Amino acid sequence: MDKLKISGGQPLNGEVRISGAKNAALPTLCAALLSATPLVLHNRPQLNDVRTMETLLSQMGVKVSYHDGGVTLDAATIGWPLAPYELVKTMRASILALGPLLARCGEARVSMPGGCAIGLRPVDQHIKGLQAMGAVIDLEHGYIAAHASKLKGAHFTFDVVSVTGTENLLMAATLAEGVTVLDNAACEPEIVDLARCLTAMGAKIRGAGTPRIEIEGVAALHGAEHRIMPDRIESGTFLAAAAATRGEVVLRDADATILDSVLDVLRRAGARIETGQDTVVLRGKEVGKAFDLVTAPYPGFPTDMQAQMMALATCANGTSTLIETIFESRMMHVQELKRMGADIDVDGNTARVHGVSRLSGATVMATDLRASACLVIAGLMADGETTIDRIYHLDRGYEKIEEKLSGLGASIRRVSGVSSQKSEVRSQKSEVRSQKSEVRSQKSEVRSQKSEVRSQKPEARSQKPEARSQKSEARSDL
Ligand code: UD1
Repeated sequence: MDKLKISGGQPLNGEVRISGAKNAALPTLCAALLSATPLVLHNRPQLNDVRTMETLLSQMGVKVSYHDGGVTLDAATIGWPLAPYELVKTMRASILALGPLLARCGEARVSMPGGCAIGLRPVDQHIKGLQAMGAVIDLEHGYIAAHASKLKGAHFTFDVVSVTGTENLLMAATLAEGVTVLDNAACEPEIVDLARCLTAMGAKIRGAGTPRIEIEGVAALHGAEHRIMPDRIESGTFLAAAAATRGEVVLRDADATILDSVLDVLRRAGARIETGQDTVVLRGKEVGKAFDLVTAPYPGFPTDMQAQMMALATCANGTSTLIETIFESRMMHVQELKRMGADIDVDGNTARVHGVSRLSGATVMATDLRASACLVIAGLMADGETTIDRIYHLDRGYEKIEEKLSGLGASIRRVSGVSSQKSEVRSQKSEVRSQKSEVRSQKSEVRSQKSEVRSQKPEARSQKPEARSQKSEARSDL
């Protein structure tokens, strides 16, 4: 397994390009299932989750081909409307295939995603919404088996705001008969991006980005070209890292208009921020104030940025309070931050972070995607070396993170599983060599003892007559 090694203490300085958004790429890849002609996506982020989704689609029969920075998906025929357990267990977002498959093929079989490190994460809203549109859904053998000869437009109100739930129903509704109204819909910018892509494919959508979305179903969608929006969580992560190291960083190809809540908290922490057309500049020299935040659905503070901001809070002057309201157990990074010297109390979903003067590098373990990003920031802040284990979580959602951070002056390197195995083999070999040389030196010691014994023997022999004469002398004494 790969690890990251970070020598902390250097401020980040320079420019970094923001990649396409993971959480926008995943639903738009699934949108390709809705059309029999190719969908071309630009600004595709090179991430493991994106590759997993492409694998899933190609197993269904979608032809996936790559071009410079993008991907073309041709779903002319869908042979197997199936998302198997093996792929769903590695990526919950596979559930996004359910709505489009059902709408296009009239059937779908998608493995039920289980709970995950950050919470239970049920998918009841996805299922209830599709049932409201006329789908018959059975849960059998760990799979959601859905059928609908033709989905029908419906009025559905979400009990809880769900991002992928909204995306699933939005995609399904584009090919349903009649009008669908989604109330209490999620307003995340990734939903607006998906709606833009669907509209380019011929869908009729109003209100994406508001809590009420109206979709008028059409008979068929067609291929289109779409550019995936910039990743707001990657943007926020680099800004938090720049602030935490008191650096000065420029984000390129970013979108400041969707970062308001994050920029607001960073400003309260003392950062000076300027935004441009597709740039964000952060100056972190005066960062150091404690701050409070509460995660909430968009436009509230994103749960996906809570962990990174906690790293920043560890060295603030005073106590910061961070409240997580979206997921039940999204504080797994706290224990690891404490191992680096942070002072944090957790009470339920509230973390009180009492600022300390410094963190100290340690070996820590990543538990989920954003917790990994938190540990990277903590490593950049800390004295000495930090080793982060299990960084496959990081590779799911951050494109070339060590390359981008190195470009900003960070001392960070990946130790690949293969090379760390090799170095382990090397150290085992050298141990074997040293054991062999010990055995050799023991043998030579044995040899020299033997020769000493041999050299003592003639002496012993020459002493024998003397002993014999002493013995006979002694006998004569009896
Ligand atoms: C998406 C994002 C994830 C982000 C999260 C919240 C993607 C691929 N992932 O995840 O990065 O952290 O939004 O912003 O876009 N819930 C239910 N029933 C449901 C669905 C959700 O009770 O059917 C609950 C969840 O357990 C959670 C809350 O609703 O407590 C929000 O979850 P949701 O918005 O669905 O998260 P995801 O779409 O899975």
